[in-house]
Amino acid sequence: MKTVNLLLVIAVLGFMATNLYAVDGKELFARHCSGCHYEGGNSVNRSKPLHRLFRHANGLRTVDDLVNKIRRGGQGMPAYRPDRISDPEARAIAEYIIKTFD
Ligand code: HEC
Repeated sequence: MKTVNLLLVIAVLGFMATNLYAVDGKELFARHCSGCHYEGGNSVNRSKPLHRLFRHANGLRTVDDLVNKIRRGGQGMPAYRPDRISDPEARAIAEYIIKTFD
């Protein structure tokens, strides 16, 4: 019985920790990117929104391509170093962009 309780406590703590540290691409995008890319648009350079057609035309197809773009910035976009956006966070943002902005 005691072992069962202990396992339960461990399971609950584990679940809480996962949620605490979960990276949420949507939330990160809202915090870091939507100032210029609200709803996938581009308020600085209107010819470069985040929708698939435009991304692909500019050679940004994969999660890695997008992570590189986040790191590089350029032409009016800030470059984000890993101390501001970690690798798992950058990947979560990239995955959010790919699944959200068709
Ligand atoms: C200060 C405004 C600004 C912020 C903040 C910003 N961007 Fe950008 N972004 C731009 C501009 C301007 C461009 C066009 C220049 C270029 O493509 O190099 C761009 C281009 C892009 C592109 C390429 C789009 C295309 O069609 O080729 C992607 C992808 C992108 N941004 C993602 C992001 C992500 C992800 C974030 C947040 C981590 C972000 N941007 C934050 C201004 C911004």
